[in-house]
Amino acid sequence: MSHQTVIVLDFGGQYNQLIARRVRECSVYCEVKPYNAPLAQLKAMEPIGIIFTGGPNSVYLEDAPHVDPEIFTWGVPILGICYGCQLMAQTLGGTVTQAQEDAAREYGKTVTYYDTSYKLFRGLPAQSISWMSHSDYMAAVPQGFALTAHSDACPNVAIADEARGFYGVQFHPEVNHTEYGLDMLRNFLYGVCGAVGDWTMGDYKNTAIQAVREKVGDGRVLLALSGGVDSSVVAALLAEAVGKQLTCVFVDHGFMRLHEGDEVEAAFAPWDIHFVRVDAEARFLARLAGVTDPERKRKIIGEEFIRVFEEEAKKIGAVDFLAQGTIYPDIIESGLGDAAVIKSHHNVGGLPDYVDFQEIIEPLRLLFKDEVRQLGRELGLPEYLVSRQPFPGPGLAIRILGELTKERADLLRQADFIFRDEVAKAGEDRHMDQYFAVLTNLHSVGVMGDSRTYECTLALRAVVTSDFMTADWARIPYDLLDKISTRIVNEVAGINRIVYDITSKPPATVEWE
Ligand code: XMP
Repeated sequence: MSHQTVIVLDFGGQYNQLIARRVRECSVYCEVKPYNAPLAQLKAMEPIGIIFTGGPNSVYLEDAPHVDPEIFTWGVPILGICYGCQLMAQTLGGTVTQAQEDAAREYGKTVTYYDTSYKLFRGLPAQSISWMSHSDYMAAVPQGFALTAHSDACPNVAIADEARGFYGVQFHPEVNHTEYGLDMLRNFLYGVCGAVGDWTMGDYKNTAIQAVREKVGDGRVLLALSGGVDSSVVAALLAEAVGKQLTCVFVDHGFMRLHEGDEVEAAFAPWDIHFVRVDAEARFLARLAGVTDPERKRKIIGEEFIRVFEEEAKKIGAVDFLAQGTIYPDIIESGLGDAAVIKSHHNVGGLPDYVDFQEIIEPLRLLFKDEVRQLGRELGLPEYLVSRQPFPGPGLAIRILGELTKERADLLRQADFIFRDEVAKAGEDRHMDQYFAVLTNLHSVGVMGDSRTYECTLALRAVVTSDFMTADWARIPYDLLDKISTRIVNEVAGINRIVYDITSKPPATVEWE
């Protein structure tokens, strides 16, 4: 695939993936590389520009991450952000020190004044808010550099050497708090690096399909389709590329949401592929009978899933390729630490050991989640599949506290559907990242009509989060909660009480089990 490339050189900052996503939002392809990646490898990528990220270190400390100064001789424009700015300043002959007084140390939203005659700030207001997070200070800037922005507290907020195409900013243009941050990145990409904007999902779709065709030839491909966003988009891409050579195995373990299995099947009906839907509800329920411990539930479901998939794969016989929905955040190497950590991701743990295939293909390995969704839309997948909230592999099984039976699963399915339906109708889904119902193992007394009831308590859970590592409980409007509660109690026999979970993560987790 030929498109212009920008390298984001990672020095361990917390926003590094965000920088890469922002660059791609500007229709420019980029990859994140660890700061100590071999220079030859970076050069071979023929970047049109390089961005040095922020990082937790101080450049003047002995073991701080550095970069080979040769990179500055390539004639490739460089933008240094925060640590990256200080590193550039120091490497090219400037001085960086610890900020001695509060004056030069800045954190948070800061009024910043820009010299808009410089390309990075061209066309933008001369004064706006930027997001600062630095405790070091460029005491002296290198020769050839000019100061291009300042704040009330700090004279050296941004530097530039326009002749060489080197720019540095102490603040973080990639975060939303910096008012014109995205415009600055766009100025760097288009005004300095000469980007033409050749990274679009439409183009990506076509080149990815072509690449899959070339690689697969007349081989056979097998995919475990879970119905989640990633595996669905892989399925659609492969279906488009190789049609009948693809077999998707969709294992319904009996703990899917209401209508989910039918929706997934319907979504793939337009393509002429082998779609195997395995109704494994009965065998999963049998294996889980009497099991109440959350970890045992997960383990049993994981094992049984592999077993079912393996049986189906055996029926199909040898395949050439096993496809997986690995996405870019799963493979990015961290810029910090000598032994770079690489997360290995499998949609369904352990599968490759059990299935007869020659090679793995991962057509989404260069895409961020939002790009995967965009690609799904380009491929014509329905919006309800593409914009789906995360759904755990074990499904509703870990949202049913206590014993797992078909009756209890059906009860939860109905209640969960009403919750999601009402949230979506009210347009509140835009404000939440995940929301679902949990069937507790609590019974309580109620009164309906003139009769006493003694029925299940249902909990509603809704969270706001960007990374699911921490999460805040969603402030759902009371009127909406009221509507949901009334509907569920009226429509779902067996539930007489609804509670709303108001714990954040930590100390709670998103799921209840
Ligand atoms: P917790 O409960 O750990 O959940 O705060 C964080 C996010 O991970 C999802 N989750 C899972 N996803 N398999 C998955 O694929 C699992 O076993 C699993 N458990 C939790 C959860 O839904 C939330 O989005």
